Amino acid sequence: MNDDNLVEIQNLEVVFESKDSTITAVDNINLNIPKNSIVGIVGESGSGKSTTALSILNLIPDPGVVKNGSVYFNSQNILTMEEIDLRKIRGKEISMIFQDPRASLNPSITIGTQISEILETHSGLSRKEAENEVIPLLTSIGLPDPKRILKSYSFQLSGGMCQRIMLAMAVSLKPQLLIADEPTSNLDTTLQAAILQKIRELKNLYGITVILITHDMGVIAQMADYVAVMYKGIIVEMSNTIDLFKNPRHPYTKGLLDAIPRIDDYEKKLYSFAPIDDHDDNIKSDTCPFIPRCKFKTELCKKSLKPALKFIEENHSVACFHPLEIN
Ligand SMILES: Nc1ncnc2c1ncn2[C@@H]1O[C@H](COP(=O)(O)OP(=O)(O)OP(=O)(O)O)[C@@H](O)[C@H]1O
Ligand SMILES: [Mg+2]
Repeated sequence: MNDDNLVEIQNLEVVFESKDSTITAVDNINLNIPKNSIVGIVGESGSGKSTTALSILNLIPDPGVVKNGSVYFNSQNILTMEEIDLRKIRGKEISMIFQDPRASLNPSITIGTQISEILETHSGLSRKEAENEVIPLLTSIGLPDPKRILKSYSFQLSGGMCQRIMLAMAVSLKPQLLIADEPTSNLDTTLQAAILQKIRELKNLYGITVILITHDMGVIAQMADYVAVMYKGIIVEMSNTIDLFKNPRHPYTKGLLDAIPRIDDYEKKLYSFAPIDDHDDNIKSDTCPFIPRCKFKTELCKKSLKPALKFIEENHSVACFHPLEIN
């Protein structure tokens, strides 16, 4: 493992198996997370973003199975670690804000008790010290009456409030890695900006490395140093953010970027993907998964196995036989 990376995901394959189907949620991906960076994972619903994130905590839900691969965190393979050691890492060294924050809060104990239990267990703070740590944080992320919130139960709060409580809990332990899965998806634009700003601030203050999962390219532009673009379980493009926005090389990335509404556009641009063409019998399941939506597919694409993610420049790799030209 390279010392500059906090996490290295190698050849990870995760499937969900049921009686009549097998879904490959993560299909042999490789992803490095450099220390002290914000890495964005972007892609549409079902592309495997959350499954990738959960594998970093070894928390793939049933009936999911890791078929292959390793996830190194500080040179230890999370996927082969004993449960007892994993518990020391989860929450304390790696914390995650889950996509459904309400589901990850316990509805039968108050928010205040949950926060202090976590802080007491992992950092030995007393309840009073824990509250002193968390109250200012809650205020700073737009929860105006934190004392009342600490006395509430999760079902008494909105989804957006639960999300901000999760963020406060996650960062109060000053983890090495924060995984934020759609941390602002339930929030309005102003609050979204405030939360993102807070994540950045905490990252700079404590040197936390962040994995930020979103389907929103605007959030990526604002936050991420590097971006991995996922499509149907594979990483189709990986780059530093500036290069990705300037010169997207995968047709899927280009489509995502073209779909961002620009202030100076009178008409919103819509996805410029070709219509889905699933009926082409020449397309096999082990070929590039983007073929049915790709305007640039050729016979080579249809006849070849999935293209591997390959470097085309320093810090920029793409999984495509016909990467787009540089502007
Ligand atoms: N618990 C589960 N049981 C069965 N299939 C699952 C489960 N969780 C995820 N999957 C499948 O794995 C694939 C990847 O799902 P995942 O939740 O990782 O996507 P995602 O990119 O996070 O999507 P979203 O943007 O909607 O959150 C999907 O096809 C999904 O249906
Ligand atoms: Mg998800």
